[in-house]
Amino acid sequence: MINPPIDSIVCGDCLELLRGVPDNSIDMVFADPPFNLKKGYRSCKDDLSLQEYLRWCEKWIVEMVRVTKPSGSIFVHNIPKWLIHYSGFLNNYADFKHWISWDAPSSPMGKSLQPSHYGILYYAKCAKQLKFHEVRYPHKRDRKSGFLLKDYGGKKSMLHPFGPLVSDVWTDIHRVKHNKYRDEHPCQLPIHLLERLILMSTDEGDVVLDPFSGTGTTAIAAKRLGRHYLGFELDAVYAEVSKQKLVEEDAASKLGGCWVSFYLKKVVTLRDMDWECLQDFFFLPDAVGKIDSAPITLKSNYLQ
Ligand SMILES: C[S@@+](CC[C@H](N)C(=O)[O-])C[C@H]1O[C@@H](n2cnc3c(N)ncnc32)[C@H](O)[C@@H]1O
Repeated sequence: MINPPIDSIVCGDCLELLRGVPDNSIDMVFADPPFNLKKGYRSCKDDLSLQEYLRWCEKWIVEMVRVTKPSGSIFVHNIPKWLIHYSGFLNNYADFKHWISWDAPSSPMGKSLQPSHYGILYYAKCAKQLKFHEVRYPHKRDRKSGFLLKDYGGKKSMLHPFGPLVSDVWTDIHRVKHNKYRDEHPCQLPIHLLERLILMSTDEGDVVLDPFSGTGTTAIAAKRLGRHYLGFELDAVYAEVSKQKLVEEDAASKLGGCWVSFYLKKVVTLRDMDWECLQDFFFLPDAVGKIDSAPITLKSNYLQ
């Protein structure tokens, strides 16, 4: 049995709390740790020496792998500077799948290239047993004209009506910038980023664990998609904000019987295997040739 109980956000140190989680019991673990960049968290010092930070990171990484099921997925979000070290640790205990490059331009820092992506390391506890589902995102289109932004070289008939399979470069999900959508937290992730990872690597009823839960993004994504969640967070205020937000959430991110990820009333990620059922919920272009000028739209009674 998992102790603490699933479907809870627990306030405390993740290393201590992870000890209560049995070996091979979690379907997906996602960690978004402090980046050691002197961020203004309420309860932790984000300014350790290089060696201290890396020693600490190896400890929770080893724990994350231990609790993951053989069919499970391990994701770690950070900047490239730290991910190269994390890979060194993870390669000893799990199987590398991908470095997902999440496009997120920032300001030039002088005497260096402009940092323009975060990375999400994606490891399988055991590559041969990994649970994985292909996912699709909408075609990229010009905002004003609605035209496809990609030239498909005359192979329009082969385009998927909804959009391409997701690759390891993600340019369609933006960071949460607007205060209207933010909590009082210095680095909150977008819910639909987590929803994409969850749709890829878990099924309904699976358990998702986040040891650095912040204001609950991963737990909210899991609950919306009908998964169980467990979140650990050192700061009592962030933990409380998460609990309050979770009360408002339902397992309702669905079209018919299929779980999908919505953002601003549009479907932004769906599973390839669900398309046959999902297509009935969209107005599709009436001819293949129209796909480059006519985006597919959700039928109005299914807008979330
Ligand atoms: C980068 S933030 C995570 C943000 C989160 N992904 C979200 O979207 O809200 C890192 C979080 O880890 C928490 N934290 C730091 N040290 C911790 C520890 N030892 N155990 C649990 N949480 C910790 C911080 O308080 C902070 O909220």
